[in-house]
Amino acid sequence: MIVVFLGPPGSGKGTQAKRIGQQRGWPHLSTGDMLRAAITAGSELGLKAKAVMDRGELVPDQVVLGLILDRCGRPDCNNGFILDGFPRTIVQAEGLDRALVGKKLEIDRAILFDVPDDEVEERLSGRRVCSQCGAPYHVKFSPPKAGRICDSCGGQVVQRDDDQLGVIRKRLKVYHDQTAPLIEYYRKKKKLKTLDASQLPEKVADELLSILR
Ligand code: AP5
Repeated sequence: MIVVFLGPPGSGKGTQAKRIGQQRGWPHLSTGDMLRAAITAGSELGLKAKAVMDRGELVPDQVVLGLILDRCGRPDCNNGFILDGFPRTIVQAEGLDRALVGKKLEIDRAILFDVPDDEVEERLSGRRVCSQCGAPYHVKFSPPKAGRICDSCGGQVVQRDDDQLGVIRKRLKVYHDQTAPLIEYYRKKKKLKTLDASQLPEKVADELLSILR
């Protein structure tokens, strides 16, 4: 099954993709994680992407399309995969559809993680992530057990550069202007399912499982 997780920044796409990906054995393909890995590696792509991401804007369509098409062509994706944070524009969605048609594949479901903007601001301004394994935390709702040490791998828990309030608001604007049109795109194709992502994470996970059943 090929599933797209669509929704504003901070709606819980990454949290749920990690969980369901492990349960189903589907690779979790996050363009945000791929770009952050390029930044950590200090590659030319990473250097260019960092400036764009720190402003809360989108990296050019052809760059992220190239990353995703390369990744989903690998053998571990043969039984399906989850796309988290991709596509984010109509150009990306059309490019992906064209590439999948060439492989006689198609998107099975696009799941919209529906959360109001004020909740996104609270979640992202309090979010912390492990710099090694990417495990997500929240200073209020789910802090690490021991200060800034990751419960899973012992790595350092840090704040993302783009989780400052001004940048969060810019990312929300970019979402409404450039990504939200994908809701109609997938609705017209009869692929769209909407999920109430403002519930507790366990409830979101249950609703997600019943959608994918
Ligand atoms: P990316 O890394 O994809 O960021 P994003 O879409 O903005 O999403 P987030 O990772 O911020 O949120 P999420 O929905 O995964 O929520 P999470 O589970 O972490 O992209 C970063 C940047 O890269 C972009 O701005 C852009 O520049 C670039 N980029 C990436 N893809 C691109 C593309 N396709 N095209 C162009 N540019 C691209 O949860 C958030 C917080 O809430 C956590 O603290 C978590 O613990 C908590 N939480 C989760 N679920 C719940 C819940 N149910 N209740 C309470 N708290 C919860």
